[in-house]
Amino acid sequence: MAEIVGAYFTSHVPAIGGAIHRGAQEEPYWKPFFDGFPKVREWLAEVKPDVAVCFSNDHGLNFFLDKMPTFAVGAAEQYSNADEGWGLPIYKTMQGHAPLSWHIIEQIVEDEFDPVTCQDMLVDHALSIPFELAWPGAEEWPVRVVPIGINTVQHPLPSARRCLALGRSVHRALQSWQGAERIVIIGTGGLSHQLDGERAGFLNRDYDMFCLDNLASDPDVLTRDSIHEMVRMAGTQGVEVLNWIAARGALGPTAREIHRNYHIPISNTAAATLLLETA
Ligand code: DHB
Ligand code: FE
Repeated sequence: MAEIVGAYFTSHVPAIGGAIHRGAQEEPYWKPFFDGFPKVREWLAEVKPDVAVCFSNDHGLNFFLDKMPTFAVGAAEQYSNADEGWGLPIYKTMQGHAPLSWHIIEQIVEDEFDPVTCQDMLVDHALSIPFELAWPGAEEWPVRVVPIGINTVQHPLPSARRCLALGRSVHRALQSWQGAERIVIIGTGGLSHQLDGERAGFLNRDYDMFCLDNLASDPDVLTRDSIHEMVRMAGTQGVEVLNWIAARGALGPTAREIHRNYHIPISNTAAATLLLETA
């Protein structure tokens, strides 16, 4: 049976890619953020995952405002990276795991989710930046991926309750997968940030702490608020925490925190990094 080794969560601000490219990790602005990653890398080296099931949101690369799936699951042999406009380097292609993707799709459809299945899919900064942070300088990515996209961009968005349920359905799929893979769950985006409108630059440390403090022990409490309330508290793009909530569901019923880093701001975002293991 496959083993879920734990979950890695992080923000995916594109400017992080620029900082890596310039080698700015030790600069005062960046150091408190990058200091959160040696522990992540040590942990990954220890738990040795070979597959990553990744929850993130597309930022207009695969899906634009004219076609916006609520949930999209990649079922491709590989996923190229492309830059939807940030001027980032093009990162390494990710290898897929199509049989596992289809197994997950079958389970979530059985559980009455209606995903778009993507046999052709690109990945944007929401996956490439967390991978660069986790495995800097790797010749090739050490994990195959199953990307799961959640619409955090165009309303109506799925509720936090629905995202947690999706993650739990993915967990059921992983439990019944017959392979011997070591699986890491990844959730990216957030925490609080708003990039546009009157509240551009809005951050909310209190709400971020509420999310971080409860994600491991009581993820259901993160589903108490409506999407509009979450937008009010986290910011229009802070609702990317939905990716974290789904990923937490995929980890399994009980979890414990093994590492956390939180730093305000990176670009316009309250940047957070978290590692959880099953308790
Ligand atoms: C920023 C944050 C994001 O989550 C994103 O997708 C793009 C930009 C930012 O803070 O600059
Ligand atoms: Fe984003």
